[in-house]
Amino acid sequence: MEKRASFSHLGFIIAAAGSAIGLGNIWKFPYITYANEGGSFVLIYLAAVAAIGAPVMMAEILIGRRTSKSPVSAFLELARGIAGGRLWAGVGYLGVATGFIILSYYSVVAGWTVYYFGKCLYWSVTGFTPEIASGLGDQFGFFLGNGWLQLTFSILFMLMTMAVILMGVSKGIEGVTRVLMPILFVMLISLCVVSAWSPGFHEAIAFLFKSSHITRDGILEAVGQAFFSLSLGMGAMITYGSYTERTQSIRRDTAMVCILDTAIALMASLVMFSIIFSVPAAEREGTFTASSTILFTTIPRMLYALPGGVLWTPMFYLLVAFAALTSTISLLEVVVSYFIDHLGWSRPRSTWIVGLVTIALGGFSALSFGAYAPFSGVRPFGHHAVGIFDSMDYLATNWLLPVGGFFIAVFTGWFLSNRLTRDELEAGAGPFPLHWVWKWALRVLCPVAIGWILFAVVHGKAFN
Ligand code: TRP
Repeated sequence: MEKRASFSHLGFIIAAAGSAIGLGNIWKFPYITYANEGGSFVLIYLAAVAAIGAPVMMAEILIGRRTSKSPVSAFLELARGIAGGRLWAGVGYLGVATGFIILSYYSVVAGWTVYYFGKCLYWSVTGFTPEIASGLGDQFGFFLGNGWLQLTFSILFMLMTMAVILMGVSKGIEGVTRVLMPILFVMLISLCVVSAWSPGFHEAIAFLFKSSHITRDGILEAVGQAFFSLSLGMGAMITYGSYTERTQSIRRDTAMVCILDTAIALMASLVMFSIIFSVPAAEREGTFTASSTILFTTIPRMLYALPGGVLWTPMFYLLVAFAALTSTISLLEVVVSYFIDHLGWSRPRSTWIVGLVTIALGGFSALSFGAYAPFSGVRPFGHHAVGIFDSMDYLATNWLLPVGGFFIAVFTGWFLSNRLTRDELEAGAGPFPLHWVWKWALRVLCPVAIGWILFAVVHGKAFN
């Protein structure tokens, strides 16, 4: 077998941050923050990242690096000698299945961002007229109903993702994220600066940081969002961790990724809310809905209204597409590496087969926004989700990721020896006096918090 590829020091941080930063930060975080009334939700989100997300991320990276294997084999190796040890491989299999599912619908929304990038580029050149502005909602509806168009863009996005994975870990994943992530940062920071001049900026700051009303469901949603946003619960960080060296500090890297991911989510929200709040309160009701489609129905009009809008608007969609691409890369790598490590397939073979199956699966989601009635109307989960896209998202965010995260926390907290975990967390980093705090977070805090989410889901809640 050839030597396992590896990331460079900085390369790992950038790739892991690239995985974490995605549609979850730019599309989902702002709209659920809006739905949860801002400030207090943001605070709880920050606490969830620090107290639950960070410990689980350390656990995932540790499992990957210790074994240099992707999730299924990693669990098999570490659980050797534990009663019922082989069952733990189930967590790895769950991760592979989750990867397929998330990738299939995530690439559909990612395709939308590419389509809107192209569209805005066109409008920037030909002129963004008031007629176009008032017709944005209809346009988006038309796009959603046009199965072929949507399918084309989600396939395009998958092909781009596959191209990166085909190039391998260091040339592909590291090479591409190293270029895209800095561009994304610069674009988002410039947008933040521009939005500081918009009339809604102060209100946006107040909305994000002033205490507000919070519900119990809001707390659970914050925990679930922290998980999704940090790419936890399906072994993505186990896979990336398996490509790192022992000279790398897991604690420092986790801190960096969590900080970057959170910073991007807050910056994206600041930009979105600044432009949204620039509309006078009295007119707001009719002008926008705080829904998942706001990114495509309201945002273009508001971005075009900014000074230099012809530049900022296409740039914004390019930024979102970049963020999505560095995330789909990580999702695909989890699945592809399973077939490489476990079945001995070559990378090209694994990438093509997994990619094509995902494209086929994604087709169901792409056609479930009205393009094909049977896909659009099915309700496999009762009233929780309508259509294939919604159902996949419901299944992944409410069940698969929390269940995976729960077992990763329990396994690392209760079944890995202190000697092993301490050794991994001190490698490349020096003494770790707070090891016991981390361990108890995994033993009690994380399982309880995640168990609470699952309890609520069993009792009929949905957080997608
Ligand atoms: N974290 C990404 C986002 O915020 C999505 C993502 C990529 C993901 N890889 C993952 C989510 C693995 C869960 C598990 O958009």
